Amino acid sequence: MTSSENKAAQTLAALGVTEASSVSVLFAEILARFDGEIAGVQDEASWKQLRDAWLGRKSGVLTLVTDNWLKPATPELKRVVGAELNKLRGHVEAQIEAKRAAIEAGSDEAALARERVDLSLPGVTRPVGSHHLIRQVFQEIEDIFVSIGFSVVEGPEIETPYYNFEALNIPEFHPVRDDMDTFYIEVPKGAPSPLLLRTHTSPMQIRTMEKRQPPVRVIVPGKVYRRDNPDATHSFAFHQVEGLAVDTDITFCDFTGTIEYFVNQFFGPGVKTRFRPSYFPFTEPSVEFDVTCVFCGGSGVSASGGTCSKCKGAGWIELFGAGMVDPAVYGFVGYDPKKVSGFAFGIGIDRLAMLKYGIDDIQVFFQSDVRFLRQFP
Ligand code: FA5
Repeated sequence: MTSSENKAAQTLAALGVTEASSVSVLFAEILARFDGEIAGVQDEASWKQLRDAWLGRKSGVLTLVTDNWLKPATPELKRVVGAELNKLRGHVEAQIEAKRAAIEAGSDEAALARERVDLSLPGVTRPVGSHHLIRQVFQEIEDIFVSIGFSVVEGPEIETPYYNFEALNIPEFHPVRDDMDTFYIEVPKGAPSPLLLRTHTSPMQIRTMEKRQPPVRVIVPGKVYRRDNPDATHSFAFHQVEGLAVDTDITFCDFTGTIEYFVNQFFGPGVKTRFRPSYFPFTEPSVEFDVTCVFCGGSGVSASGGTCSKCKGAGWIELFGAGMVDPAVYGFVGYDPKKVSGFAFGIGIDRLAMLKYGIDDIQVFFQSDVRFLRQFP
């Protein structure tokens, strides 16, 4: 038997249908085919395919039935074919519309399920950064000195040899320059001065005194650079805080009192301090300032009974260089050395932080390892 699909493409006469009862059977067959096809439709794409196959204007099944069965039907059959065709059309259109609504509702539900928000789930934690330990130590130092009348100034990291050396009483070929062997920057031919990365924050002593008249009380936090080989206590880039106090009657006692006050505030009352004679071309007298070793409590003996590796058994650790400003320096800034006096110091911040927080390798400050940084939130 010919399939119902092919039958719609043929006339009733070609199918041998001459009686009304046979017409009803033909329509029942074609309706059953439609019901079978629509049952398998589950999504929008196959729904569109079905709609076009049955309702398509040019070659949809209903058009074929109209063209091939109704139009050429004999006058006796035309009425019954028309009635059956209307029934079929009504059924097909209603079912196709109902399917569309069902698919749409289903996709809405699926979308709702997909987009459902579970408010009981834990939120996304966005980690908040914190200041680097060196920045925190800068802040601690600034707070202490600001509380006793110092102000904070900053200066350039790229300096001229004049400010980094000469105006600090370190002429060319002075042996002290060997210790500060430094990074020079390429400058164009004919540039007014060579340029270098500053080796200490002391150039800011000169720049400050050039700009201000006594009384001067400043501290200068900043980065400095030296061609030092990296090890546990050396880095080629590190941090210092310079201090400078100049007035008409500043004595060595003001100097020691200020430094001891700072150390007590910073480390707490437990540590002892001492001054040792030293030499800097821009201070006279010059000292090195030591504190009792915070790792062995000043005993020089480690917890395991051996020699303390941090202070090498001395019980003291050098903190920084300092001294009374050398009168020669005043000559470079137009101060009268007979009228003014003052003190200056240069604290190595990285080593200070290592001491306070028990860190045994300076390199960790520069490695950006969050496991280290998170310990100092
Ligand atoms: C100076 O830099 C002098 N400008 C300090 C000064 C200022 C003296 C004012 C007198 C008056 P010195 O070279 O000693 O001094 O360095 C000071 C501190 O910097 C040292 O005590 C040490 O803590 C730190 N330091 C020096 N070199 C390094 C380095 N390569 N890595 C890390 N810290 C360093």
